[in-house]
Order: sequence, then structure tokens, then C-alpha cells
Amino acid sequence: MQFQLTDEQEMIRKMVRDFAKNEVEPTAAERDEEERFDREIFDQMAELGLTGIPWPEEYGGIGADYLSYVIAVEELSRVCGSTGVTLSAHISLAGWPLYTFGTEEQKQTYLTPLAQGTKMGAYGLTEPGSGSDAASMKTTAKKDGDDYILDGSKIYITNGGEADIYIVFAMTAPEEKHKGATAFIVEKGMPGFSMGKKEKKLGIRSSPTLEIIFDGVRVPKENRLGEEGEGFKIAMMTLDGGRNGIAAQAVGIAQGALDAAADYAKERKQFGKPIGSQQGVAFKLADMATKIEASRLLTYQAAWLESEGKPYGKASAMSKLMAGDSAMEVTTEAVQVFGGYGYTKDYPVERYLRDAKITQIYEGTNEIQRLVISKMLMQES
Ligand code: CAA
Repeated sequence: MQFQLTDEQEMIRKMVRDFAKNEVEPTAAERDEEERFDREIFDQMAELGLTGIPWPEEYGGIGADYLSYVIAVEELSRVCGSTGVTLSAHISLAGWPLYTFGTEEQKQTYLTPLAQGTKMGAYGLTEPGSGSDAASMKTTAKKDGDDYILDGSKIYITNGGEADIYIVFAMTAPEEKHKGATAFIVEKGMPGFSMGKKEKKLGIRSSPTLEIIFDGVRVPKENRLGEEGEGFKIAMMTLDGGRNGIAAQAVGIAQGALDAAADYAKERKQFGKPIGSQQGVAFKLADMATKIEASRLLTYQAAWLESEGKPYGKASAMSKLMAGDSAMEVTTEAVQVFGGYGYTKDYPVERYLRDAKITQIYEGTNEIQRLVISKMLMQES
């Protein structure tokens, strides 16, 4: 295994770090406060090629690898967890299934504008009654001639409302349980497709999270992704990579919190010396840095495995489990280092703490990650 990033990966890290510092960080607190998504930031990411990092140039991407992509999500999340997940959902949850299961025509029509960033992507699996038990979804897709008619709703859709292209899962044969699920490409503006409630959230408040509603939406068969009955497999395989994107988001959030806490610990003096030179705080910082590094290594390893075409599902679940739990621990300690100041909005650490929590929940709770990892262990042994 190589521990050194390539020149291209280093270049992408530097480019995204500069962009995040100059264009994303200055408005992060304000966008969080106002629960405001800024499409201009997405457009700027498109100009830099970030919206298509892992996709080949023939589909509008920049042809880099998955490790470059997770580095980009990490660097964005280091200043703004909302911006990190915007890119992660766009690439992992919408671009990936199109790239992997799409026909040539579907890739040209849908992946290319996603990669170029002229359109934004989202993914719809969760329903009010179907969260961890994803196979229990109730949204239906009934065949009508050459079309499918979609009825139902999906909740907690990251990029909801802003996205133009939605990868959604619906039952074409409900009696067959998970084997009766099928994936579809649904476009904003299709008659009967509407946006529902926008969630008011604890964290990642400048990333829109919406309900999406299907009321007799007529989807042509050309927009079916994969075969009938392949939907559950497509949903699960998509999440395998998506979870690594969330791990990268968690690593970035935790690193941002550590950066702030370490800076503060150098400046803040109590009992006549900087608090960072007092063991209670110094040991906290050491533990925080160690947890972040362990999380980062798992995250990069999973991305490297995917880039190499090797199995990465277990590694990806491990990276999200480790990085999500670590991000909660690290951001909680960052607030502690700041003491009373950390509990106020005068410093960014309370935002990092609020943003970290979701990384233990979405794209499969960390309890589900343990289930995925243990099932794979059993299959291996
Ligand atoms: N890759 C390929 N196939 C897979 C797979 C994978 N990773 N995981 C499961 N499968 C296949 C199995 O092989 C099995 O196939 P066969 O029927 O052919 O044998 C089939 O799928 C069913 O598998 P299970 O019996 O393991 O399925 P299950 O019903 O027990 O569920 C689960 C497994 C892991 C709990 C799954 O339901 C799950 O991941 N739940 C969590 C859902 C989730 O992560 N939701 C997040 C939504 S996205 C989001 O958060 C919003 C956002 O925008 C960020």
C-alpha cells in the first residue's frame, strides 16, 4: 500500500483547500444561520471541475480517481459540512449509479450535465416508514404501456429541490420484496413530481433536505436505470461508495474543529500559560488528532480500493463508522477546549459539533454500518 498521494491528488487538495478557504468559509456561518443554500458555490465547484472529479472526460468529468474525490469532500467539509455533503450526494449518490448502471444514452443525457455541473443530482431511497429497513419501501412504479407511473414519496433528500436529476427507487413488484424494486431517473419538472416539506435541522443547515412527492409521475422506460428488480442492488451498491463520501465529510468536519481548537489552545492563557501547554488540554488535542488520522486512513483506503477496482463495501462501511463516531468525539472535545466561548456562535466549533452528528445517521446509521460489516465478516469466514 502507498501512503503518499500522487501529484494530481496533492494538486486537487491544494486547489480545493484554497477554494474552500476563499469562497466557502467566509459565508459558512451565515448560510448555516439562515439555512441558505448557495447555488453560486456549486457553480464555482463546477468551474473547477469538482462536480465531475471521478468521471471520464468523455462524460464531462476530469478523469481523476475516487481518492481525489474524497479529498475534495474532506477539504470542503473542513470549512463547511453542508458544502461537503452537497458534492458527496451529487457525485456518489447520483453520478455513480448513472456511471455504473446507465446505458450510453443515459450517461450522455444525465451523467454529462451532472459531471459538468450544469445540473445537480440527488438520490431518493428513504421513506417515512422505510429508513434502515430500506427494502420495505412503499413507493410504486406501475407499468403503463412503455412508461411507468410513480406514486409515493421519499424523505430526507439531500440536494432536494435544488437538484435537477433524481435517482429514485420504487416497487415494480411489491410482492417480491427487495427483488421487486427498480431504479429510475426522474427529472425536476416532470408532471406530478413535486417538492414537499423542507426540513429544519440541527446541523448541515445550508444543505437543503426535502421531501419529494410522486403523484402519478409518468416516467418513460428510457429512464429506468438497470433492469426491473435490480433496484435494491443498485441502491445498496450506490451506498457502498456514498458511505465513504460521508466518512470524508466526517474527517473534514473533525479536522476543521481540531484546527480551530489547536489555534485557540495556543493563544488562550490561563494560570499564566497557554492552555495547550497544560496536560488536560494537550492530551485532548493529541487524542483528537489521532482519531482523525485513523479515520482518514480508513477513508483513503476505501477510496483507493474503489479506484483499484477491488471490493470496498466493508472498508467503506468501516470508514463511515470510524470517521462518524470520531467526528462526534472530536467536535465535542473541540467545544470543551474552547470552554464557554465554544458554546457560543462567536466561534465555529459549535457548528462543527452540530454538523458532525448527521454523519452517524445518514447513508445508513452507524448501527447499520456495524450490521453491514458483521454480515460481510460472516460471509468471509
Ligand atoms: N451490494 C450488492 N448487493 C447487496 C448489497 C451490496 N452492498 N447489500 C445487500 N445486497 C443484496 C444481497 O446480496 C441480497 O441479494 P439476494 O436477494 O440476491 O440474496 C439482497 O441485497 C438483500 O440483502 P439483505 O438480506 O442483506 O437486505 P436487508 O433487507 O437485510 O437490508 C441493510 C440490508 C444493510 C440493512 C440495508 O437495508 C441498508 O443498507 N439499510 C440502510 C439504508 C440506508 O443506508 N439509507 C440511507 C439512505 S440515503 C441518505 O441517507 C440520504 C442522503 O441523501 C444522504
